[in-house]
Amino acid sequence: MSMDKIKGSEKIKIFRCDESCASGAAALCAACFNRNESAAYMAYFLTNKQTAAVCAKDGDTIVGYAAARVVADEAEIMDVAVSHKFRRRGIGRELMSSLEALCREMGVAKLYLEVRSQNSAARALYSSLGYEVYGTRHGYYIDPADDAVLMKKNINILNTAFADNSNGC
Ligand SMILES: CC(C)(COP(=O)(O)OP(=O)(O)OC[C@H]1O[C@@H](n2cnc3c(N)ncnc32)[C@H](O)[C@@H]1OP(=O)(O)O)[C@@H](O)C(=O)NCCC(=O)NCCS
Repeated sequence: MSMDKIKGSEKIKIFRCDESCASGAAALCAACFNRNESAAYMAYFLTNKQTAAVCAKDGDTIVGYAAARVVADEAEIMDVAVSHKFRRRGIGRELMSSLEALCREMGVAKLYLEVRSQNSAARALYSSLGYEVYGTRHGYYIDPADDAVLMKKNINILNTAFADNSNGC
């Protein structure tokens, strides 16, 4: 996948994840989230047929990762993470766009995610990509306590692109 929109990062490329990405993705998630998955679990997740996952690599190093679980025509975005020193260069946006394209290829029409209400960076990213808030789960997160904001995006082209064709064909 091409990476023209990532600022000052001509070496950075986006790839669809496979098993070889497991340890890098697990390390990035451990650094960005309050949890610690093993590389073995990540390898299991990445090789599952219901997983859609992409990563950004600087050379051989994974500096960004985004993944979703696909069920029928819906996908739930599980993780989006960019290595701290690579943030604000457009990698998160490109990962989300690539993940959306991959989900579309897998037959997904609706994307869902949840995000901490205090996570202004992620909320701004998702809003800018067309995700809309459809609910809140109060007190959903702990350590630190926070509400979950529920967001969704309809990527069903047939429902959106042709919705205004009121005259028919
Ligand atoms: C959220 C995250 C993935 C964004 O990655 P990123 O590569 O820095 O994002 P981008 O550079 O592509 O930014 C895209 C847009 O997101 C928004 N954004 C990103 N970081 C932001 C920040 N710190 N403050 C406000 N808006 C921010 C902006 O709208 C930005 O567009 P702009 O640069 O044109 O203003 C990154 O901050 C991260 O990994 N955070 C920790 C993990 C996390 O919270 N993941 C989300 C869990 S739901």
